[in-house]
Amino acid sequence: MKRVLVRGADPDRWTGRTAIVTGGGSGIGAALTTALVDAGADVVCTDIDGEAADRIARGLASGRGTVRAARLDVTDGDAVRALVDATVDRAGRIDLMFNNAGFALGGNTEMLSPAQWDSIIDVNIRGVVHGVTAAYPHMIRQRSGHIVNTASMAGLTAAGLLTSYVMTKHAVVGLSLALRTEAAAHGVGVLALCPAAVETPLLDGPGVGGFSGRSYYLSGQGVRAAYPADRLAAETLEAIDRNRPLLVVPAQARMAWRFSRLAPGVMQHLATKFVAQQRQRQKL
Ligand SMILES: NC(=O)c1ccc[n+]([C@@H]2O[C@H](COP(=O)([O-])OP(=O)(O)OC[C@H]3O[C@@H](n4cnc5c(N)ncnc54)[C@H](O)[C@@H]3O)[C@@H](O)[C@H]2O)c1
Repeated sequence: MKRVLVRGADPDRWTGRTAIVTGGGSGIGAALTTALVDAGADVVCTDIDGEAADRIARGLASGRGTVRAARLDVTDGDAVRALVDATVDRAGRIDLMFNNAGFALGGNTEMLSPAQWDSIIDVNIRGVVHGVTAAYPHMIRQRSGHIVNTASMAGLTAAGLLTSYVMTKHAVVGLSLALRTEAAAHGVGVLALCPAAVETPLLDGPGVGGFSGRSYYLSGQGVRAAYPADRLAAETLEAIDRNRPLLVVPAQARMAWRFSRLAPGVMQHLATKFVAQQRQRQKL
C-alpha cells in the first residue's frame, strides 16, 4: 500500500487515537488503516476476511501508530458491539469508527434475487447501523469522537444498473447527515465519504447477467480514471480534521453532484441515456 503524507495543522493530531476500520482488508479500508497508522493512531483493522485484515496489519509494523487485526462480519450486530466494547475496555475510548465495509452488485434490477437484495442491505446499510449503534453511545459518554461512513457518489446521484447499491448508499448519506445534526451537541462528528470510482477490487466485483463494473464506473459520474485509494484516505483524515459533512471526490464528481441539484430533471434524462448506452455496450 502506497503511503501518502497527511496534511494538517498539528502533526500529533492522530497520535494515540483509537480507531476501528471495517472492511480494512482491502481497497479503501486498507488505505484508511495505512493512513491512520502512519499518522500515529492505534487501529483495529477488521474484515470478514480475517486473513486479509492480518496481511494489512503485518505490512504496517513500521508505522508510527499500532495496528491489530480482527475478523469481523459487519452483518453480525452482536459481534460488532462486542469488538467495539472490547476496544473501549482495552484502550479506554474509541475516537474514530470507520464503517467502511461494503460491496456493489450491478446489472438489471429484475435479475437480483431476494437473497441478493437482503445481502446488500445487510452489509451496506445494516453493517453501518451496527457500527454506529455500537460506537456512538461510547462517543456520547466521552463527549468526543468521529464516525466516518463510507457511502459513495452513488449516495448523492442515481443511475440504474446499480439500483440496489444506489439505494443503500443514499441510506448511508441520509443516516450520516441526519445523525451529524444530533451528534454535534455531544461533541461527536459524522462524515460521509462520497467518492466516485476508486481503484479497488470493488470495480471488478460481482454483477448479474454479465455486468462489468469497471466499464460502468469509468463511464459515468463524469470521471475517466479511478481515484487512488491512498489519496482518498489522506483526504479523509483532512476532512475529519475540518469536521466536513461530506467528502465528494474527484472535482468532476462534485460538478456532477452540483448539476444534479440544479437540474434534477436533466440529470434523470442523462442517467436514462447513460443506462441505455451501458445496456447496449455491455449487451445486458
Ligand atoms: N471502489 C469504489 O469505486 C468505491 C466508490 C465509492 C464507494 N465505495 C465504497 O467503499 C467501501 C469499501 O469498498 P472498496 O472499494 O475498498 O472495496 P473492496 O472490495 O476492495 O473492499 C471491501 C472490503 O469489505 C470487506 N467486506 C465485505 N463484506 C463484509 C462484511 N459483511 N463484513 C466485513 N467486511 C466485509 C471485504 O472482504 C473487503 O475486504 C464500500 O462501502 C464501497 O461501497 C467504493
